[in-house]
Amino acid sequence: MLKPDIEAILNKQVSLEAQSSALYLSIGSWAESKGYHGVADFFYAHSEEERQHMLKLIKFINERGGKAEIPAIDKPKQDFKNVKEVFNLLLETERENTMKVSEIVHSSLKAGDYTTHNFVQWYVTEQMEEEALAQTVLEKLEMAGEAPGGGFYLFDRDLPGLKANFTPDSASGAN
Ligand code: FEO
Repeated sequence: MLKPDIEAILNKQVSLEAQSSALYLSIGSWAESKGYHGVADFFYAHSEEERQHMLKLIKFINERGGKAEIPAIDKPKQDFKNVKEVFNLLLETERENTMKVSEIVHSSLKAGDYTTHNFVQWYVTEQMEEEALAQTVLEKLEMAGEAPGGGFYLFDRDLPGLKANFTPDSASGAN
């Protein structure tokens, strides 16, 4: 049975995942409208990934005798200056997520809730991978530049291949 404070912190994380999913969906849509199809695919996939994280948390809370709360979602930012801004936003969002996941790890250990502590271990790994990916993409973008032409064209074209690295739970063959 989940203790109320652990249930509350897990439900906060449900909300954060929902918010991240909405933000990435918005970025994907923005990128698509600009013709950056690789960036759009990357963020659409990442949005789906966050939704899966949310679902995993919801199921865990309910299976442990708690009650998952389905959160309201704030309207995410709709317009962005450039591709660099959206990947900086990705990195910032994932860093915040990592901080929150660390709080869950800490709280569950403090509460002697080893089941939750064990459950969130996948999350710790996931966050590490997501932060590393955001950093890698920013470095690649730095090299490619955002001017129309060769470098950026290749960056955009190759991005969807990168996202496969952070979907270890996905069905094989997912791009
Ligand atoms: Fe589900 Fe990217 O944190």
